[in-house]
Amino acid sequence: MKQIILFILFIIFFNIVKSNQCNCILNEYCKPLGVGERTEFIGFSDNSTGNYLNYDYYSITTIGVYYDANISIPKEFVCISHANGVRLVWWAKIPNQQLSNETFRNQFIDKIIESIQKENMDGVIYELDDPNSLTSENSDFFTEIIEKTFKILKPINWNYQISSKLPFSPNIDLNYNYLGISYFVDYLVVMDYNIGSRVTRDGNCLAGSNSPNPMIEQGIKNFTSMGIPGERMVLTYPWFGLDFICVNGSLSSEDCFVEKDEDDNCNDIKTIANQISYGEIIKILNDNNITNGGINWNSNSKSVFFNYYDYQGILHQIHFDNPKSLFIKVFLTKRLRAKGIAAQTMDNLDFTDLVNSYNMYDTMAYFFM
Ligand SMILES: *[C@@H]1O[C@H](CO)[C@@H](O)[C@H](O)[C@H]1NC(C)=O
Ligand SMILES: *[C@@H]1O[C@H](CO)[C@@H](O)[C@H](O)[C@H]1NC(C)=O
Ligand SMILES: *[C@@H]1O[C@H](CO)[C@@H](O)[C@H](O)[C@H]1NC(C)=O
Ligand SMILES: *[C@@H]1O[C@H](CO)[C@@H](O)[C@H](O)[C@H]1NC(C)=O
Ligand SMILES: *[C@@H]1O[C@H](CO)[C@@H](O)[C@H](O)[C@H]1NC(C)=O
Ligand SMILES: *[C@@H]1O[C@H](CO)[C@@H](O)[C@H](O)[C@H]1NC(C)=O
Repeated sequence: MKQIILFILFIIFFNIVKSNQCNCILNEYCKPLGVGERTEFIGFSDNSTGNYLNYDYYSITTIGVYYDANISIPKEFVCISHANGVRLVWWAKIPNQQLSNETFRNQFIDKIIESIQKENMDGVIYELDDPNSLTSENSDFFTEIIEKTFKILKPINWNYQISSKLPFSPNIDLNYNYLGISYFVDYLVVMDYNIGSRVTRDGNCLAGSNSPNPMIEQGIKNFTSMGIPGERMVLTYPWFGLDFICVNGSLSSEDCFVEKDEDDNCNDIKTIANQISYGEIIKILNDNNITNGGINWNSNSKSVFFNYYDYQGILHQIHFDNPKSLFIKVFLTKRLRAKGIAAQTMDNLDFTDLVNSYNMYDTMAYFFM
């Protein structure tokens, strides 16, 4: 009897101590979100300088956050998210080079699980540093990380979310054990960006769309024919564009020929184009000192592009998505019966321009209609 009373006193004491550690207005906000499975709008977040205060917590359902290891999550970020019924999960990048290192894998999983509990977060979305280059030797190691995480976290709290970011089509890297992974995640997050610019014509590189709809659709169909239906997928769309430097042409030319990369091809999008945030794109379009050729519609990729001369007089072409093209993507996503939609990343918005920023959120939120 004495022991039981002592035990109860201990629990009460322990809970008081614990609740004192909560910095949110309500203690409840320090607990992981108690919401079950739902349609998702995931916003990725990778800028730790305070943008999180400006995110649209009314439209998103989950935030996937990636900060450098030396930066901790502000307590307030957790409070705001939970107060708005939004999950805050780690977006954890795993270095491909360390996959075969068992010590590394186990420490990585332990760190994720420990920090989810310590920071009162809601789960994890894994991604490889170099997601299109998983080797066959490392395939099982990647699946193992996801499986172990799932098996540890789910018994602690079934509402924790475990997921993985993957190429937009299984064909991009057939070394992933997609089906195996799908058993140990709440859903798969596919990356529908940096896709379509590897266009060649007569041996030349041509600038192209960041996220062409026909490819997105093919990618999902190829997952479906592998036995992973749309209901298991969240489709991530870019809130950034691709900025190409054209070797010739003018403000009105549709074709923008691009210098090839070192390997004499167009495969590495990072070497033939620069990523540019939606916020920066709007600034270029509104800059009276920069002449642009006006926004054009690409009816094949269902996205927009424009040419401009930079301050040095060099011709560029930017391919991107705006509310008009995102709207069509939202309905493509619905037609594919996907589980959700995601934005890469919310920090690509310029929050000093709230009208253009919130237009992007509002457009994506049509997914819930
Ligand atoms: C993060 O956001 C701040 C403020 O919006 C901006 O000044 C900074 O350049 C951003 N950092 C990165 C790495 O994008
Ligand atoms: C955190 O680490 C990154 C590299 O991982 C470094 O660039 C940055 O300066 C560090 N920031 C602080 C505050 O130490
Ligand atoms: C394996 O991972 C551990 C822990 O991160 C690290 O100390 C060690 O140097 C790694 N081994 C190799 C060969 O990289
Ligand atoms: C989808 O699969 C087909 C048949 O295997 C293949 O030809 C096509 O390139 C794939 N599409 C994508 C986007 O990977
Ligand atoms: C522009 O450059 C491409 C690739 O070098 C070339 O094929 C094309 O003929 C050029 N066009 C003009 C009008 O010079
Ligand atoms: C455009 O150029 C004028 C004159 O050089 C300068 O005063 C103005 O600040 C510039 N505007 C922008 C948006 O850079």
